[in-house]
Amino acid sequence: MSTNVALELIDVVKAFGPSTVIRGANLQVRRGERHALIGPNGAGKSTLFHLISGLFPLTSGEIRLHDQVISGLEPYEINRRGLSRSFQITNIFPRLSVFENLRLGVLARHGVRFDLVRSVNWLSQINAETAMLVDRVRLSSRSDIAAGELTYSEQRALEIGMALATGAEVILLDEPTAGMSREETAYVVELVREVTQDKTLLVVEHDMSVVFGLCDRISVLVYGQVLATGTPEEIRTNRAVQEAYLGEEHEEAA
Ligand SMILES: Nc1ncnc2c1ncn2[C@@H]1O[C@H](COP(=O)(O)OP(=O)(O)OP(=O)(O)O)[C@@H](O)[C@H]1O
Ligand SMILES: [Mg+2]
Repeated sequence: MSTNVALELIDVVKAFGPSTVIRGANLQVRRGERHALIGPNGAGKSTLFHLISGLFPLTSGEIRLHDQVISGLEPYEINRRGLSRSFQITNIFPRLSVFENLRLGVLARHGVRFDLVRSVNWLSQINAETAMLVDRVRLSSRSDIAAGELTYSEQRALEIGMALATGAEVILLDEPTAGMSREETAYVVELVREVTQDKTLLVVEHDMSVVFGLCDRISVLVYGQVLATGTPEEIRTNRAVQEAYLGEEHEEAA
């Protein structure tokens, strides 16, 4: 594998009892790209994310992050190696403020050991980093508000902030705009674009205008296998993809 591949899935299989959901999935996400994972409902997109982030063990196959095998590791170990996932499982504490939530992420990154001898400088450094992060996800005016009081799209912004707080280089987002109005979607997409500028993004998204507008490359997962990977234009014009997936969408929309 070349070093410009951030994340690689090799013949990944996942069975739940008698039903095999992921059936030999192969995928390469390049370092620094924004890569969309699309596919019909039940194709296995979220399951694939659970496998990548270490929540579920693989039945067979291998997953590599920056050329190191991560399949078999615990989620926190995978996170420590530079992969962070957000959505569908959230680590947000609703009663803590936006600032406090993000500070937990920053603390996790620095490996806090509750050492009483730590200097005041250290704490102000943590607070300064947290403030920058609050600003980065555009929640400065909401910094002291309990996370549970945020609007839906602001909560998504906070979750993106949590993913960033740990300093991960590879970010996984599962349907970041699900259930959002056009306006909220635009806000979150801009945010995702901004905060992933110097990162690698793998995003599951059903909204094709978001996918085609945000991502450099797209992979299509159908029935637990990656049917095709390519640029938006290549995917749009791919016959097999049209038949298996995009065609369906057009019919539904018509
Ligand atoms: N823990 C589990 N045990 C058994 N079957 C599961 C489990 N998790 C998911 N599945 C099955 O795996 C298949 C893929 O589900 P998954 O949630 O990964 O699809 P998806 O592509 O994310 O769909 P959607 O677009 O609706 O979010 C589904 O048929 C689902 O019922
Ligand atoms: Mg899903």
